[in-house]
Amino acid sequence: MESPKTIVPGTVWYDTDGNPINAHGGGIMYHDGVYYWYGEYKGDSTYYRDDICVGWRAEAGGVSCYSSTDLENWKFEGVVLLSEPDDVHSDLHPSQIIERPKVIYNDKTKKFVMWMHIDDPNYEKAHTGIAVSDSPTGLFTYLGSFKPNGGDSRDQTIFKDDDGRAYHIYSSEWNKTLYIGLLNNDYTQHTGVYTRNFIDQYREAPAVFKHKGKYYIISSGCTGWDSNTAQCAVADSMLGEWKVIGNPCIGEDAEKTYYAQSTYVLPIGGKKGLIIAMFDRWNKTDLDDSRYVWLPLTFRDGKPVIEWKDEWVLAE
Ligand code: DGJ
Repeated sequence: MESPKTIVPGTVWYDTDGNPINAHGGGIMYHDGVYYWYGEYKGDSTYYRDDICVGWRAEAGGVSCYSSTDLENWKFEGVVLLSEPDDVHSDLHPSQIIERPKVIYNDKTKKFVMWMHIDDPNYEKAHTGIAVSDSPTGLFTYLGSFKPNGGDSRDQTIFKDDDGRAYHIYSSEWNKTLYIGLLNNDYTQHTGVYTRNFIDQYREAPAVFKHKGKYYIISSGCTGWDSNTAQCAVADSMLGEWKVIGNPCIGEDAEKTYYAQSTYVLPIGGKKGLIIAMFDRWNKTDLDDSRYVWLPLTFRDGKPVIEWKDEWVLAE
């Protein structure tokens, strides 16, 4: 019999080579029986600059990818979007910001499409960046960055719906308002169709999932690397209208999201209908030692509920 697959939130997680997993602000794509975890590959020396906002930074090392068939044993597939240390003008120079990468597969073009937050060290550029690859393990080719729908784009995610439509969900207007934009058929551009949501509510770290025909967004407040209270909202359509239904976290430290911040929600399905809520527990003075907090998300009275667990078993 296979041994149970155990998740221990907040501890150091190692890959199959024995190295700590370095995939922050990440997301998971399931493709042909394999889970691919993409995230920020952070440099190992965190530094502080008092001339920039929330000044703790680590070098941006590109985007890493890990693969797994059981969500417990993760093989390092390498840095699949490389940083560009030799080009100080590149978006991908290690001094810049490459955050919250997410990848989806386009069934028509057969390309894997990555969207990410691209910024300058002071978070003033507020671009979204796009890269594509023929393989889930890269290398990804960087296509460039821009301001979607003419406005800021900072914290972000991508959601691919069952009907093949995909959406970019991003903090805009100096993080005050969360935009949701419909992407074009090949997922490399916006269509110009978008909505403004949670206006003036400062929501960051969006994580989107669909459950029984309804759409859910879990997001954080806006307090730099420090934790705050998560919020969940529900809608009948990705473009809204979104109805806020409160903090999905319950129990001790729920108002601090267990000292973590949302990044992705992964519905696994299976007999028990497992849904994994993924968070980052940032360590701002040693950013690459930020930890992963994955917890089961269940439904109570029709609302998502997340509860802290010291340890839990992934039972499909
Ligand atoms: C909060 C965001 O959610 C993170 O991705 C990161 O950009 C930090 N702010 C930086 O302070």
